[in-house]
Amino acid sequence: MSKGESRDVESRLIHTEGLRNRDRYQLLTSLVVPRPIAWVSSRSPDGVPNLAPFSYFAALSATPLLIGVSIGSRRGAAKDTLRNIREIGTFCVNIVTEHHLEAMNISSGDHPPEVDEFQVAGAGMAEAEVVSAPYVAGCPAVFECSVREEVALSEAGNVFVIAQVVAIRLSNDLPLLAGSFFVDPEVLRPVSRLGGESYAKLGTVQSIARPAPR
Ligand SMILES: Cc1cc2nc3c(=O)[nH]c(=O)nc-3n(C[C@H](O)[C@H](O)[C@H](O)COP(=O)(O)O)c2cc1C
Repeated sequence: MSKGESRDVESRLIHTEGLRNRDRYQLLTSLVVPRPIAWVSSRSPDGVPNLAPFSYFAALSATPLLIGVSIGSRRGAAKDTLRNIREIGTFCVNIVTEHHLEAMNISSGDHPPEVDEFQVAGAGMAEAEVVSAPYVAGCPAVFECSVREEVALSEAGNVFVIAQVVAIRLSNDLPLLAGSFFVDPEVLRPVSRLGGESYAKLGTVQSIARPAPR
């Protein structure tokens, strides 16, 4: 063994290019875990409210405050969420908590554009203040978002939507940690997605001090 090299456990290497789409999806979504869930609310130009969850969801930048959501296609066509946010340019991301787990799951059903998933899921609806979009009433944390950029990830595949969060609505029941703008995760009770139909609730929260800067 050369210096700096250590013995590895027995392992197997999977070349991803030769896999079926489904197998790649299953590996990706059961290894990049737990994933936060953007419960995206939007409205069609005809005024139909839309609600659907997306766990290809990431925090991208604080200044400007950017988030990203990757939206796939359905039977070769854009999903309602993507069509709405392309046409209107704004939407809300509702942070999914334990209280809304069932409703979030129901809202993921494959409904035609004229169906209001707020009603299907039994979720209350309220109107965002800064952007033109509905949000989930009673959701403790809501991002009001304005689309900034769209990146096509492949011809027939996902579109990555980058949006600026122009306002954040926090429930008055959601305290910030003393002297900061950190939200207390134990009060928020976020739910995240694992592979397939599995979800994770918050486990033990452990704090570790960062190494001192040089
Ligand atoms: C927890 C969860 C996460 C999901 N994440 C994504 C995702 O990141 N991208 C995606 O295209 N679909 C995702 N889906 C599927 C969409 O929610 C589903 O296709 C939905 O019907 C889209 O609704 P729409 O046509 O109203 O936009 C997810 C479903 C669930 C239950």
